Amino acid sequence: MSAVLDYTPEVASATAGIYDRVKTVIPEIEWPFHAPYIEAINELKKQRNAVILAHNYQTPEIFHGVGDIVGDSLALAREAVNVEADVIVLCGVHFMAETAKLLNPTKTVLLPDMLSGCSLADSITGADVRLLKQKYPDIPIVTYVNTSAEVKAESDVCCTSGNAVKVVEGLGVDKVICIPDEYLAKYIAGQTDKVEIIAWKGHCEVHERFTAEEINGYRKNFEGLVVIAHPECPPDVLGAADFVGSTAGMIDYVGQQRPPKVMMVTECSMSDNVAAEYPDVEFIRPCNLCPHMKRITLPGILESLKTLSPEIEVDPGVAADARRSVERMLELS
Ligand code: 13P
Ligand code: SF4
Repeated sequence: MSAVLDYTPEVASATAGIYDRVKTVIPEIEWPFHAPYIEAINELKKQRNAVILAHNYQTPEIFHGVGDIVGDSLALAREAVNVEADVIVLCGVHFMAETAKLLNPTKTVLLPDMLSGCSLADSITGADVRLLKQKYPDIPIVTYVNTSAEVKAESDVCCTSGNAVKVVEGLGVDKVICIPDEYLAKYIAGQTDKVEIIAWKGHCEVHERFTAEEINGYRKNFEGLVVIAHPECPPDVLGAADFVGSTAGMIDYVGQQRPPKVMMVTECSMSDNVAAEYPDVEFIRPCNLCPHMKRITLPGILESLKTLSPEIEVDPGVAADARRSVERMLELS
C-alpha cells in the first residue's frame, strides 16, 4: 500500500475547488489526508486514459473527489457502454465491476478491492438458478444485477432497482421469477397488477436491518420529516416511507422536492454525498454502512491505477450469456 502522501501548498490549491463542494460533510482536519490522494489519482487517471465510475454509496472524498461518472447501478451500467477510455476503475462492489466488464470486454476493468462483495450476490449460485429452471421450466427469470456473471448467464434478463417494474412488465408474460432479493420482488409485486412474482430469499445485509419501528420513532422526534427508502428494505419499512426508489431515484426526489427535513433509509454515505449538494436540506441520518462498499479507499484506488490491478476477468464460458441478460435489460428500460 502507498505511503501517506504530503499535503503541499500546490496540492491544497489544486484541490481547493473540490473541498469547497464537500466542506459541509468532510471536516477540515481530514482534508490534508484525502487531498494528496485525490490530486495523485486525478493526475494518474489522465496518464492511464482511465475513467472512474463511482456508485452513490462511495464516501464523499471518492464520490466528489475522483468520480468521473457517478450514479446508481443502472446509470453505471448504461454509462459503461459509452466509455471511451482504455481503463475503467469501478468504485463500488464486485458485481458492478463485472457488469462493466461484460459491457466492455476489450477494456481493462479494475476493482480496487476484489473482496468488495454483496450479500445479495452471495445468496444465489448458478446451480440454484438451474434448479429453479427445472422446477419452473416456462417462467422467465428476472435477475437483479446484484448477482454473479454465472447467475446472470442462467437468466432471461437482468434488472436494477431503477427499472425492475418496467423490465418485469416489459416481458409481456403473467408470471416471472425475480431473484435473488425477496424484498425487491415483493416491492415489484406491489407495483404491478399485471404480473405474478415468484421470489427467492436473498436479502441485503444493510437494508434488512432497518425497521418500521425505527422510522416511526424518527418521525415522532423530527416533525415534518420526509422518509425515502430503497426497495431492498423489508416491506413494513417501505410501508412506513413517503417515497421508494433506487439510489438515483432517491437523489432525484431530494433534488426536485427539496424537503426541509429528510431521512434516506439506505447506506449512510449516500446522505453525505447528497447533503454536500443541498445544504438547504436537513438530513436525519440513520447510519447502516455497507462493509463491502467501504473496502474502496483513496489509497486503494491510487494503487490500483499504478499497478493496473486487480483486474476483473469474466469466464468466457458465461460471459456471452451474461452479457445478453444485461443488454436485454438495457433494451427493455
Ligand atoms: P442501486 O441500483 O439503487 O444503486 O442499488 C445498488 C445497491 O447495491 C443497493 O444496495
Ligand atoms: Fe449489496 Fe447491500 Fe452492499 Fe448494496 S448495500 S452492495 S445490496 S450488501
